[in-house]
Amino acid sequence: KRVAILISGGGSNMVTLVDSMVGDHPARPVLVASNDPNAGGLAKAAERGIPTAAVDHKPFGKDRAAFEAELLKHIEAAEPDILCLAGFMRILTPDFIARFEGRMLNIHPSLLPKYKGLHTHARALEAGDSEAGCSVHEVTAELDDGPILGQARVPILDGDDPDTLAQRVLRQEHLLYPQVLRRFASGNRDILHLT
Ligand code: GRF
Repeated sequence: KRVAILISGGGSNMVTLVDSMVGDHPARPVLVASNDPNAGGLAKAAERGIPTAAVDHKPFGKDRAAFEAELLKHIEAAEPDILCLAGFMRILTPDFIARFEGRMLNIHPSLLPKYKGLHTHARALEAGDSEAGCSVHEVTAELDDGPILGQARVPILDGDDPDTLAQRVLRQEHLLYPQVLRRFASGNRDILHLT
């Protein structure tokens, strides 16, 4: 299976996905693309010999469709079977999602369906939750709402702030996403629960 990965920043999740696709793994990375030409992850992908593309979303303003049309040129040229959103911070239109429905994954730093959207760790802390975590789900038109494919939980500890909690969750993201991708690429849709 050919996997394209979309990033917006440092791409730590992209790196763990790329580094997991070796040996008898059923998938290989064919593209890393970003909405930010300065995304640190682009250099990490290039170091790994993976084709990269960057389409700055800012010149397109509110015209999401025009931005996506440009991004799609790069994605479709790579002919991916699976699209992985990994720290990708743009909301995609239903039209874009429809092209990849059933073969597009995202990792979200909360135990969905709780805390869809942004600032998930601050919200969990604010709510006084005893645990937090991350979810890998299939992307559908509704934000952070598609079928869940995997989750990992972490304890919320006394003295945690959004940064300490984010670090603890991110470590689990790096374990969860590669395992879910490997199962997904081999046709296994069973939910994976880590820890
Ligand atoms: C992190 O906040 C992570 O929880 C979320 O996207 C952000 C950046 O991740 N998935 P990455 O290092 O760019 O993969």
